[in-house]
Amino acid sequence: MSDKNVTERLLADAAGIARAAEILREGGLVAVPTETVYGLAARADSDEAIAKIYAAKGRPSFNPLIVHVASIEQGRMLADFTASAEAAARQAWPGALTLVLPIRPRALIADAVTAGLSTLALRMPAHPVMQRLIDECGFPLAAPSANRSNAISPTTADHVLETLDGRIDAVIDGGECEKGLESSILAIRHGGAWEELRSGPFDLEALRNAVQGAPSALGDNGKDTIEAPGQLVKHYSPGKPLRLDVVEGEGDEFVIGFGPIAGDYSLSEVGNLDDAAARLYAALHEAAKSDRPRIAIAPIPDQGIGKAINDRLRRAAA
Ligand code: TXA
Ligand code: MG
Repeated sequence: MSDKNVTERLLADAAGIARAAEILREGGLVAVPTETVYGLAARADSDEAIAKIYAAKGRPSFNPLIVHVASIEQGRMLADFTASAEAAARQAWPGALTLVLPIRPRALIADAVTAGLSTLALRMPAHPVMQRLIDECGFPLAAPSANRSNAISPTTADHVLETLDGRIDAVIDGGECEKGLESSILAIRHGGAWEELRSGPFDLEALRNAVQGAPSALGDNGKDTIEAPGQLVKHYSPGKPLRLDVVEGEGDEFVIGFGPIAGDYSLSEVGNLDDAAARLYAALHEAAKSDRPRIAIAPIPDQGIGKAINDRLRRAAA
């Protein structure tokens, strides 16, 4: 990039996507909307471009990146799909599921993307802007969430600029993300085992039931190991103490409500969990910006996507 201090704000139209593709071709960084959260994209086949992601985020080099593709065919050039991985991808893609699969020996992927692992995390996003961008580029895009390391994931272009303004070349403003939580991550191992590495918007139990040849249960052996550092306990920090399961907030707390508990910002007055997931990070961004020194959050039912919400909240509270 010519001037490190200026981040271009691009419209999510044909001209904006063309400009983003041009920046990416030259090895630059562009934040892009997806249906989960905004991703910080760079060409996955360039060591230099990938190094810029780690530098802009302040991300430790041992934490690997997700590679985004525009089709299952493009994914197959990069990783080995077993029959059940293929079936899982057909069910879930495009969508909020990331598959961790054995990387192909000569895949055109920069070494730093996998941080030395023999596996590759792959996702085909459902957002039309990200899809068109990958198509227009012709190469796959590595993209972690578009925030400084350990900060809350962004669900708007403004959230992206809160921590990355001046550190990246451009952001495409595609409005709010529909799901609002990072993708579910499923590792499919050589021996056939399925491991849930991160809970998210995509229901892995339902997927397991729908895919022939899937194992009889989901393992979670990969959780809380260095293999998926996103699962390490302290992550997604709003930078203030956070209290969970709060029915009545205290005076110096910014209260995030749900259902009958109104609070200063309600995730969903009618108690809808999908809406709560979509609004969770916006609520945490508001709470972080407020003048209250502490944050409290109402109980969220631990079912469906509520599990992924509670997973993120526990990490934010740690
Ligand atoms: O929804 C999402 O997944 C968003 C959008 C932009 O696609 N991306 C995202 O990326 O959340 P990030 O970097 O914030 O989280 C990726 C997670 C990290 O916890 C990383 O450790 C894990 O994926 N990961 C990446 N490659 C892996 C691999 N080969 N094995 C295990 N975990 C891996
Ligand atoms: Mg992240």
